[in-house]
Amino acid sequence: MTYSREATTDIYQQIGGAPTLQKLVDVFYPKVYAHPDLAPLFPDGVEEIKKKQFSFLSQLSGGPPLYTQNYGFGNMRQKHVQFEITEKRAKAWLSCMHEAMDEIGLSGPARDDLYSFLYQAAHRFVNTAETENR
Ligand code: HEM
Repeated sequence: MTYSREATTDIYQQIGGAPTLQKLVDVFYPKVYAHPDLAPLFPDGVEEIKKKQFSFLSQLSGGPPLYTQNYGFGNMRQKHVQFEITEKRAKAWLSCMHEAMDEIGLSGPARDDLYSFLYQAAHRFVNTAETENR
C-alpha cells in the first residue's frame, strides 16, 4: 500500500489536520476494544495503537509522514497477516470507524475519500475464511 496517493493528498487539510485525527483515534479505539468480534485481537493497551494509527492516518491523508518517522517503513497488509482477519472483523472495524467519524462530526468529500480508502484497505486485509467460531 502506498501512503500518499494523489487522491488522498488534500484530505489532511480538508478534515482539519492533526486535531481531527486525534479526536478520531480517541473515539475509534474504545469502540474497537469494546467490540466483541475485535476485542480478542487487541489484548494490549490502547495508547500505543492510538499513536500508531494517528501517525499512519496523518501520513496516509497527506499530512506529516509520522508513521515512517516514528516506526519506519510499514507494509500494512503485511503487518496484519499475523491476525486472523475475517470479513466479519473487517466489517466490524469499518463500522467502528464509521461511527467514530459520525460522532466527531466529520463529513463532506474528504471524509468520504478517507473512509473509502480505509474500506478498501480493510477488505484487502481479510486473510481468513469465516467459520462457525469466528
Ligand atoms: C480489517 C480490520 C482490521 C483489523 C481486525 C485490524 C487489527 C489490528 C491489530 C490486531 C493490530 C495490532 C494491535 C497492537 O499491536 O496492539 C493492528 C495494527 C494496526 N492497524 Fe489494523 N486492523 C484492521 C484494519 C486496519 C486498517 C484498514 C488500517 C489502515 C489502513 C489499519 C491500520 C493499522 C495500523 C497503523 C496498525 C499499527 C501497525 C504497527 O505499527 O504495528 N488497520 N490492526
